[in-house]
Amino acid sequence: MTRYIAPSVLSANFLDLGKDIDMINNSVAHFIHYDVMDGVFVPNISFGLPILEQITQVAKKPIDVHLMIENPDPYIIPFKEAGAANITVHMETCRHLNSTVNFIKNQGIMAGICLNPHTPVSTLEEILPLADMVLIMSVNPGYGGQTFIESTYSKIEKLRNEIDKRGLKTLIEVDGGVNYKTAKKLFDAGANILVSGSFIFNSDNPAKCIEKLLHV
Ligand code: DX5
Ligand code: ZN
Repeated sequence: MTRYIAPSVLSANFLDLGKDIDMINNSVAHFIHYDVMDGVFVPNISFGLPILEQITQVAKKPIDVHLMIENPDPYIIPFKEAGAANITVHMETCRHLNSTVNFIKNQGIMAGICLNPHTPVSTLEEILPLADMVLIMSVNPGYGGQTFIESTYSKIEKLRNEIDKRGLKTLIEVDGGVNYKTAKKLFDAGANILVSGSFIFNSDNPAKCIEKLLHV
């Protein structure tokens, strides 16, 4: 199974963001994970388009945009134009998810669907073949540094079985509480992309930490 690491800049040092982007550029990370929060769908507000535009100027890795916002449709084109290589929307925020997913794909970028911890894999029944990736939240979205929810492993296994059974190429991404211990179990359960924020940026050597996460 292909493995990828996506460091989340939510835990970067915003006073010296360029340095942290350079660290990611020079590491074995595959993506830069960019968490957009609106203070409505999630209780926190993070950052939006202007900062993404600046990151795009210096980023050498594709930018994986995670939209934790209500009614994401009007923001798909702006985030694509700001540099998103893929855009993930939440199942819980889209009334017409098929249209939203198709609209993202029509912009020539990958489309992801994110499930909150309480949203079952079974809700993907009809839409799974349309998604390029499924992002499973292993914490409640809104903050970095939260404790990993253990029931995530069985959720990943369930989704992996479903993807393989149907012969799909959908990537499984996991977000929240990823560290060496949870990373190993997540890759074993069938995850492809692991997002990690506080664990990487709080470590003594973030680039080394990314490499170790990839090879747990
Ligand atoms: C949480 C965000 C995550 C966050 C993960 O709502 O979606 O991407 O940065 O942070 P850690 O790795 O610290 O749990
Ligand atoms: Zn995220």
